[in-house]
Amino acid sequence: MAAGSFRRNIASQLSKVLDLPPENLIKSISAVPVSKKRHVADFQLSIASILEDSSSDCLAQDLHLQAQQLAERLKCDSVVSEISAGPGTVNFTINRELLAKTVLQQVWKDGSEYGVKSELFSTVPRQKAVVEFSSPNIAKKFHIGHLRSTLIGNFIANLKVALGHEVVRINYLGDWGMQFGLLGVGFQSFGNKEKLKSSPLQHLFEVYVQINKSAEDENTKKLAKDFFRKLEEHDEQTLSIWKQFRDLSIEEYIRIYKRLGVHFDEYSGESFYQEKAQEVLKILEDKGLLQKTVKGTGVVDLSEKKDLSTVSTVMRSDGTSLYITRDLAAAIDRMNKHSWDTMIYVVTLKKHCKCFSQLKYNFGPAASPHRCQHVSFGLIQGMKTRRGEVIFLEDVLNEVRSRMLQNMTSTKTTKELQDPVETAEKVGLAALIIQDFRGLLSSDYQFCWDRALQSRGDTGVFLQYTHARLHSLEQMHGNAELTDVNVACLLEPDAISVLQHLLRYDEVLYRSSQDLQPKHIVSYLLTLRTTPCSARLCLFHAARSVLANGMKLLGITPVTQM
Ligand code: ARG
Repeated sequence: MAAGSFRRNIASQLSKVLDLPPENLIKSISAVPVSKKRHVADFQLSIASILEDSSSDCLAQDLHLQAQQLAERLKCDSVVSEISAGPGTVNFTINRELLAKTVLQQVWKDGSEYGVKSELFSTVPRQKAVVEFSSPNIAKKFHIGHLRSTLIGNFIANLKVALGHEVVRINYLGDWGMQFGLLGVGFQSFGNKEKLKSSPLQHLFEVYVQINKSAEDENTKKLAKDFFRKLEEHDEQTLSIWKQFRDLSIEEYIRIYKRLGVHFDEYSGESFYQEKAQEVLKILEDKGLLQKTVKGTGVVDLSEKKDLSTVSTVMRSDGTSLYITRDLAAAIDRMNKHSWDTMIYVVTLKKHCKCFSQLKYNFGPAASPHRCQHVSFGLIQGMKTRRGEVIFLEDVLNEVRSRMLQNMTSTKTTKELQDPVETAEKVGLAALIIQDFRGLLSSDYQFCWDRALQSRGDTGVFLQYTHARLHSLEQMHGNAELTDVNVACLLEPDAISVLQHLLRYDEVLYRSSQDLQPKHIVSYLLTLRTTPCSARLCLFHAARSVLANGMKLLGITPVTQM
């Protein structure tokens, strides 16, 4: 029997009594979360969720009565050993031995696909999603917003892939614009070819800072404008300098993202959409949406009353495109190239996004809001490194690694590790990710190294610790074969609550897949570790396996020692 079949079994019995198709009932039957107050029941049907007209103000008493009446009409069988009514719910308890056997077998058999194969996902169509995330700007700072976008986008892409969707990960680099005019000129005065090769991100940033200091100077301004104009005109030599800046930066990014376990299928950027942006303007014009202002700029009226009270400027007076125009061109280009079902933007630019999504509306159903999603996120305040402000992604990674290493060496319990630096990096990153994913993505939070890196409490360090401990228990006792398991040992309350918790994993994945919030998985994993484990090896294995699956979805590499 499969773990999911419990829900099916309950649904089929209910369907006969209620005369409703079982498919409609499956999502109303949920595994009961394990709270401090132990539940005996494993599944729960909420009466309110199956009422035809859920808006009807059913009194609590009525719901209770209906629950009781329904419970009386249902019968226990070889799967369900107990049925009872609660306030507005009917509760089902699964035969204890069957519960233990089934859950353990399922985790064992499905491995990294545990929870994913659940019937909860059977009606969800497989889709192709484009996820755009990280998207830093060449020669500029990699700020905390970029870090959040990287972590969140990676999580969303991981989750989608795990659930069987096709995903294209795109990094929309800031690789065009006047900054390249300045950079081109700056490099002629302050550039160093060796440094550009050995650390392009840092060197280009330094050159950019230096040239900005003299950017007030009229001559520099003119030179920069010329450089950028040549770039826009595709002057071969200018383009090759730009290409070198871009290629070397991407190479370095790839290396650094790797430390985070992040990769992209495509590094695109604004630069590709130069001519395409002109096509966008043409489409807008053909649709009669492009209006000229007195100053000669091109705008699209976004106001409800069509009185130009809210407009989006899409064209400069000299006919050249703007950031938003290129963004639209990129969206259309991705549609042509990838024919995606959904496109997800993980970006902070709130105002831009609002205009952008309204504009996209004009490009047909592909751009409708349910197909184009914007995942926004709050600000992180106070993330500093010992060297000061965070400028590069690598600064954060190095800081987290060195702080973690220091914490690890100061705790006496730290074993002799094969590679302490590598372990410190993985554990430290887990800390960073959990700190970031604990709350609602849209909320701001104050960053604190000490809190993030605590070894106790709701932290990534503790998750890693739990994983490592379960792993070492398995190592110590050898691998138990599932067939020898005497499930009678798993009938005590502590073991049952771990089993009940494991039973819920599919629902947690489902929730995160619906609202794209990692916090459901985070709190699930954090409770998986606090649930007391009695010494049963198979249960350890199952718990560790689910812990590892969930951590990987979040972008964490589980460690086996620490
Ligand atoms: N490069 C931009 C920035 O650093 C983020 C890109 C957002 N994505 C987009 N399609 N506009 O602010």
